[in-house]
Amino acid sequence: MRNIFLSLLFFLISLGLSLAYEPGQQKDGGRQAEQTLKLGGKVYRESCMACHGEKGDGKGQAASTLKTKPRDFTSGVYKFRSTPTGSLPLDQDIVRTISRGVRGTSMLPQLHLSQQETWAVGQYLKTFSPRFSEQRAKQPVSIPPRPKDRNLVRMGERLYREAGCGSCHGPDGKGNGRADQELKDHWGFPIEPTNLTLKPFKSGHDPQDLYRTINTGLDGTPMPSYADALSPKEQWSLVLYILSIATHERPRGMMGLVGEETRGMMIDMRAAMAGMMGGRGMMGRGMMHRNMGEMMRDMMGR
Ligand code: HEC
Ligand code: HEC
Repeated sequence: MRNIFLSLLFFLISLGLSLAYEPGQQKDGGRQAEQTLKLGGKVYRESCMACHGEKGDGKGQAASTLKTKPRDFTSGVYKFRSTPTGSLPLDQDIVRTISRGVRGTSMLPQLHLSQQETWAVGQYLKTFSPRFSEQRAKQPVSIPPRPKDRNLVRMGERLYREAGCGSCHGPDGKGNGRADQELKDHWGFPIEPTNLTLKPFKSGHDPQDLYRTINTGLDGTPMPSYADALSPKEQWSLVLYILSIATHERPRGMMGLVGEETRGMMIDMRAAMAGMMGGRGMMGRGMMHRNMGEMMRDMMGR
């Protein structure tokens, strides 16, 4: 029991820190950047390389065993952004994905990392793609407050049909709109439209998370941005409609893990054991991160 509380405390602290952290004004910019990348490279080799590959091309040792492939960072194309479609992500977006993970995939929240390590490895990822030295991320999209209108769900249901969501996600949102045709992502891998009736979603379950996805799209996937096609109110109506049909839970395995999360934990634990000689113990990895997040969410009533 005591262990659980200690773990919870650790989880809360690391979550709080990794979300709050942003390096202050740099006095000795060049040297500090160099040190950040050095730390980032170390973290990357210990915690990311098994999946994302030595060169950041997504071809790590474990990649062939995974259905949802680890990201190829050399392309500089990011799914999970607060910036408009086609833009680079903000640093904060990368940090958020690292600390929150991508639900249902082997990409678990990397909560064993300190705030500084999380930031550093995020900076390190950017060195894999020349896009980050050539372009700047655009301003994040604004997410307006949810309109007060009791008819929004019905409006969303109508728009879901009219805007063509069903052509991919299926008439009832069950992800079966393209059963006759295989969709591919930017990296050439098969990808399926999400079954929108099942929780949890990849990039979070807050209404704001869904709004962001619909507004910005998921770059590198067939999921388009609706920022220009739909008004903010219309986008909100779709969010509320999706929440109204997302009434089922995806099947859960060991410790409440979903989809390929179990596989991710095995890979993480293997990497941690290999790294034990190098100092960092196993606790804090694998065992810790996913189930603690789950427990917290369950305790807080989701
Ligand atoms: C067990 C395998 C695995 C490990 C270890 C892993 N990842 Fe991932 N990662 C994935 C997979 C799979 C995806 C793709 C998820 C998707 O596309 O839905 C992903 C996606 C990402 C993304 C999302 C990029 C985007 O498109 O927005 C980031 C950022 C990321 N990983 C960073 C990291 C970092 C940093 C580490 C190490 C601290 C790490 N990952 C460790 C499997 C892994
Ligand atoms: C051309 C096909 C296509 C169309 C049209 C489309 N989607 Fe998608 N959508 C996808 C695919 C494919 C994914 C899965 C991306 C992934 O798994 O990385 C997705 C993902 C999503 C997600 C993210 C779920 C998660 O796990 O976070 C939401 C929400 C979503 N779509 C809503 C919509 C809505 C609402 C519309 C209509 C306004 C729509 N989609 C239209 C293909 C499409």
